[in-house]
Amino acid sequence: MILIVDDDFSVTASIGLLLKQEGYEVMGVAGPEEALGILAKREIALVLQDMNFSRNTSGEEGLELLARIKEQHPALPVILITAWGSIDLAVAGIKAGAVDFITKPWHDDQVLSVVKTALGLAVVDDAAEQTGRDELDERFSFKGVIGQDPSFLRILRMVGRVARTDAPVLITGASGTGKEVVAELLHRNSSRSRDPFVCVNLGGISTQLFDSEMFGHVKGAFTDARQDRQGRFAKAEGGTIFLDEIGDLDLSCQVKLLRVLQERTYEALGSSRSLTLNARVISATNRELEEAVGEGLFREDLLYRLNLIVLRLPTLAERRSDIGPLAEHFLEEAGHVYNRPNVHLAPSGLKWLEGREWPGNIRQLRHLLVRSLLVIDSDLLGAGDFEQAMLLNAEERAGDPLPAVGSMTIAEIERSMILKCLTYYNGNISRVAEALGLSRPALYRRLDKYGINS
Ligand SMILES: Nc1ncnc2c1ncn2[C@@H]1O[C@H](COP(=O)(O)OP(=O)(O)OP(=O)(O)O)[C@@H](O)[C@H]1O
Ligand SMILES: [Mg+2]
Repeated sequence: MILIVDDDFSVTASIGLLLKQEGYEVMGVAGPEEALGILAKREIALVLQDMNFSRNTSGEEGLELLARIKEQHPALPVILITAWGSIDLAVAGIKAGAVDFITKPWHDDQVLSVVKTALGLAVVDDAAEQTGRDELDERFSFKGVIGQDPSFLRILRMVGRVARTDAPVLITGASGTGKEVVAELLHRNSSRSRDPFVCVNLGGISTQLFDSEMFGHVKGAFTDARQDRQGRFAKAEGGTIFLDEIGDLDLSCQVKLLRVLQERTYEALGSSRSLTLNARVISATNRELEEAVGEGLFREDLLYRLNLIVLRLPTLAERRSDIGPLAEHFLEEAGHVYNRPNVHLAPSGLKWLEGREWPGNIRQLRHLLVRSLLVIDSDLLGAGDFEQAMLLNAEERAGDPLPAVGSMTIAEIERSMILKCLTYYNGNISRVAEALGLSRPALYRRLDKYGINS
């Protein structure tokens, strides 16, 4: 039974009708007291609640009701109904425990999708928390994706659980941890899998080109627009759109993206015809978006539109038991491509791989294995072979001052460069700041961030 709380009868009646047509049982009440009364007596699976009842339009009453529901029924999912334009209020509600919000006027599809998602996610199956890799493979399609370390199994279980909902998923994790791989898994296991999976690297799209790239344009919309062009949202019709490097999007584009996610409609450049967004949204970043919100670089309301589900991928160092199976998998893959089908890991090789830090994570591991297979003649790769492959790699790069791709993150390079300057200038902060092109406060912030004791 779904409970709708709104003092406006037309709202309870029309959402009620919509949900009933979909086969849900529904009840509507006009205010907080009635709602709490019903909740005490009946089994309710989900609440849809308005934010204002009588006193004023500040949303205070709605937040109060939400707090009381959460106090008495902590596991019960609550979806807020807010007026368009009061996103701040919705964000406050999410922080206070609501699972999602819909804005008035609403789109029927969106209401249904939000309701279905919230109900799907609310079912917690304790037994499922123990599901092993074999059982997951029977139920889902995870072929080609290696890993059964407990930290990664948690991710796969969650993927299985949310794949069939339309919930937006935010995938975070250091570079090379498999964010794109997981995004593809979500799509592959969803009901949208026959429709396109469209990847967009937002870090690679300039602010000027954002609109035409994402929304498309019609012929003549601007000088170079010689033909109609379909945008990425349209290309993803019915399927999944994967917004990679979402943390790199600048604020002006963030507003545009928020608007589309919110209203579910948009127009191609130069066209007045309104197009409907029908794609599941998955995003990924290796940045800390909460921090970016704190620094004013990322919109909080957009974050809450993207992160209903967050999958935080473990680094390779956090799942060392997967290093061996991953390495064997990459050898097999490369062996097939380069016609060396019998190359395997020697025990010393496995030990060597398991003992390393892997700042570039799975991508770095893969790179080293493919490279080793190419430069080492033996069919059994040991510690010495990997050392040699690394050395050859270093020689080849002589003359290139930058480290190998995938071997260091920007943060690690930054930290190493700061340390180098500190040693060079004997800890003289002014000189170090000057050499790095930073102000002194900016340098201090970084010293603090990297835990460097000057
Ligand atoms: N579980 C896995 N099994 C097999 N291969 C994997 C797995 N995870 C990642 N890979 C491989 O590792 C490489 C990096 O993965 P991916 O591109 O998904 O990482 P990413 O987190 O998106 O990296 P970046 O932050 O640099 O964009 C790819 O070649 C991918 O195929
Ligand atoms: Mg990626």
